[in-house]
Amino acid sequence: MTESGAELSSGARPGSAPGARRRRIALTGFMGCGKSTVGHLLARQLGWHFYDLDEMIESRAALSIPAIFEKLGEPAFREIESEALERALGEVEERQRACVLALGGGTIVQPQNLAALRHFGFCIIWLRCEMEVLLARCAGIRNRPLFQDESSFRRLYAQRLPFYQAADASVDASAPPRRVVEEILSLRPAGALLAS
Ligand code: S3P
Repeated sequence: MTESGAELSSGARPGSAPGARRRRIALTGFMGCGKSTVGHLLARQLGWHFYDLDEMIESRAALSIPAIFEKLGEPAFREIESEALERALGEVEERQRACVLALGGGTIVQPQNLAALRHFGFCIIWLRCEMEVLLARCAGIRNRPLFQDESSFRRLYAQRLPFYQAADASVDASAPPRRVVEEILSLRPAGALLAS
């Protein structure tokens, strides 16, 4: 058992009681797809709590994400990311919070992270976005250590696709954030999970 209480192996699956509604959404997708912006708006519209995993990582490590990559390396970043996720999920469960959680672009690549999200009953939504839009949004922004150049960006996207495709639902995130939120709210069957 962790200090946050996010134990995966014991007891009934959280939120799995008959008739229980899953009011837990996790947003996944590649860098630049708008997880934080859309997540923030969606949570505000629903009146749910908003968690931003990248922000939690930065505050846990007391370092920016580029500094974590530079000083500690990507394997250490992935460990911190898993710990931050575990803490967030523990808090959601403990407080029985309805929430929207913006993941990092690589979070669901680690199988234990995906398993934890599923265990805690999250509906995982992939913000699909055209490559040209992702490139335009990420170009010139310096806080993404995995954005080196266009060809490695495209390669990483191709590697990530199967993981994103495992999401419960997807929406077109090339649209403006408010439209993306509307699309999420109209999703079926995921929409059924949003009802309070
Ligand atoms: C990463 C994406 C970033 C951040 C880190 C690693 C990735 O988050 O977690 O730089 O592996 O794709 P965003 O997707 O929010 O940019």
